[in-house]
Amino acid sequence: MGERCYTPRTLSFSREPGLPVSDASQHADASLPGTAPNIDPSRVAPMMRHLWSPVAAVTCCWEGRTNAQIAVTVNAASVVPDRPRVVVQIYKVNHSWALIHRSGAFALNFLGPDQLDLLRSLGFQSGRDAAKLDGVPYRLGESGSPILEECWGYLDCRVVNAMDGGDMTVYLADVLAGDTTGESQPLWWPDARRRLPDAWNAEWDEKAARQVEFSRQLLDKLGAPRQIGPDNRQSPAQDRTTP
Ligand SMILES: Cc1cc2nc3c(=O)[nH]c(=O)nc-3n(C[C@H](O)[C@H](O)[C@H](O)COP(=O)(O)O)c2cc1C
Repeated sequence: MGERCYTPRTLSFSREPGLPVSDASQHADASLPGTAPNIDPSRVAPMMRHLWSPVAAVTCCWEGRTNAQIAVTVNAASVVPDRPRVVVQIYKVNHSWALIHRSGAFALNFLGPDQLDLLRSLGFQSGRDAAKLDGVPYRLGESGSPILEECWGYLDCRVVNAMDGGDMTVYLADVLAGDTTGESQPLWWPDARRRLPDAWNAEWDEKAARQVEFSRQLLDKLGAPRQIGPDNRQSPAQDRTTP
């Protein structure tokens, strides 16, 4: 087995309320693989910003405590139409992270083009400081997560696995239910950014800079970069997925 082989580690994950969750928001495990150094961000950023998803309000509920945050890191994670799955990245510093990690559930509520106020109230402040869903109409979905009533569409999701990324966790989830108004387009972050008042953009820039600094500190604590190497593959005889 070559030294470059690496088997991604999944988190021990429990839906049982009350089980301790490690203090992940302040902790990055040095045994996790780190990031590659010597990147020129100006060469990479133009592509990275095309990878954001539509703006989603990620809602959650654990032991009666509801919360919502904004995310643009949602991806489809299944090709089978009647087995829909998604992945989403949730930063450990977020209040939502603790609720999602404990409940094993969340809902993705994709905002409509005019929901800039909701984008700000859910994405620019933490649920530790404000009851963000007060006054926002919602019902609870099958997963127990709030389904917001006035959005472009929703996906109600139950987590099936999670991968520790150091500063964030990538959650893989089954979609239990979903619906859309079918009208127009959802909200996209670059469009929202152009339409936000200057003061809101400045507010976001300040918050994002704090997040970047926090993430950088956690990423600096990770171990050496590793990758899944060819030695980690099954032999062709075993690998039935190869056509
Ligand atoms: C446009 C936008 C995109 C965001 N994308 C993500 C994301 O993909 N994942 C994430 O964890 N946080 C993301 N955030 C940040 C959280 O929404 C934000 O930190 C929020 O205040 C966390 O709230 P909470 O502490 O109540 O969970 C985004 C924020 C905005 C405004």
